Amino acid sequence: ASIYVLNGPNLNRLGTREPSTYGTATLADIERLCRDVGEDLDLDIEFRQSNHEGVLVDWIQEAGDVAQGLVINPAAYTHTSVALHDAIRAAQIPTVEVHLSNVHAREAFRHRSYVSPVALGVICGFGPTGYRLALEALSTVIRP
Ligand code: DQA
Repeated sequence: ASIYVLNGPNLNRLGTREPSTYGTATLADIERLCRDVGEDLDLDIEFRQSNHEGVLVDWIQEAGDVAQGLVINPAAYTHTSVALHDAIRAAQIPTVEVHLSNVHAREAFRHRSYVSPVALGVICGFGPTGYRLALEALSTVIRP
């Protein structure tokens, strides 16, 4: 099965960006983790990052056409984007929302997610492990 793993704005800076909040793993480290988990679970991983909302919309549409599941860390767009909400709803593939940090333990503006209502589930607060958990969760719904 094919799974898209999409990452939103500023996640290209992981490793040096606020390590006390986001840890020291880089996005390349997270990509490697996803590929390793994908190999174990027999999932074909398409891993991407963009700082641009419209590019993420394009990729969600593409995932809806070719993939069986989606893992997305929408980063700041989580809290603002009706466009991502609509794209995920229309894609009609099981979607897991991931955040490295526990957004509910942070500022009030991070407590609202436009993505959660169209996600199958949400994982936050476990750092890069959240991506592993998301892929494991997806594999159970794709092949119960
Ligand atoms: C984040 C949480 C968001 O609130 C924030 O804007 C991010 C990263 C996380 O992974 O913890 O950029 O999605």
